[in-house]
Amino acid sequence: MVKIIPKTTKILERLAAKHTPIYRMVSLYYKRLVQEEVALAKVQPTDKVLCIGGGPCPFSGILLHEYTGAHVTIIDNDESCVQISKGLIEKLGYGKYIEVLYSDGNNISPEDYSVIHMAVQVSPMDQVFCHLKQGCRFGAKILVRLPKKSLTNFYSVNDLSVFRTCCKKAAHNWRNVDSTALFIKS
Ligand SMILES: C[S@@+](CC[C@H](N)C(=O)[O-])C[C@H]1O[C@@H](n2cnc3c(N)ncnc32)[C@H](O)[C@@H]1O
Repeated sequence: MVKIIPKTTKILERLAAKHTPIYRMVSLYYKRLVQEEVALAKVQPTDKVLCIGGGPCPFSGILLHEYTGAHVTIIDNDESCVQISKGLIEKLGYGKYIEVLYSDGNNISPEDYSVIHMAVQVSPMDQVFCHLKQGCRFGAKILVRLPKKSLTNFYSVNDLSVFRTCCKKAAHNWRNVDSTALFIKS
């Protein structure tokens, strides 16, 4: 049960990475979401952004760059997703501004980044969050997408209480994502 939504998302994203009309249609889902996240964290062109869990079609990382001009590093722990999304970034002409790496959110060193973004499908969400929060630099901002309560079982989150201490949240209506929580390392 836990894997149904992440698996379906990957299938859809593989299609979106290859077919422009599907890419355009699915990106509509992400546009408002990312605009609200950019406003929440006040992302600037000078920020260095790290996205955890880009998938085969890393809409969030691409839009974060498009809306702010910031340099974005996207990681995924699925090698096939990394290969597909690298091809897409080249096709879009964003190779200088967006890099895609094979890595796990639980192992990456986050200290070089001023903004860190976590997809709702990241697994295990609470563990990766604690690793990033502990290792990031002071003042770094962490944006975490949290699932709707009724959908929590479809995602990999054991302890939602670690997300209670956020500074601010942006609520999202009509989505599987309930809200994006902002944390600032102090
Ligand atoms: C399907 S994507 C959805 C994100 C969406 N494309 C976006 O732009 O917001 C979620 C990805 O997170 C990856 N993932 C899950 N847990 C991870 C972790 N601990 N470290 C790195 N990637 C992870 C999965 O392999 C999957 O490809």
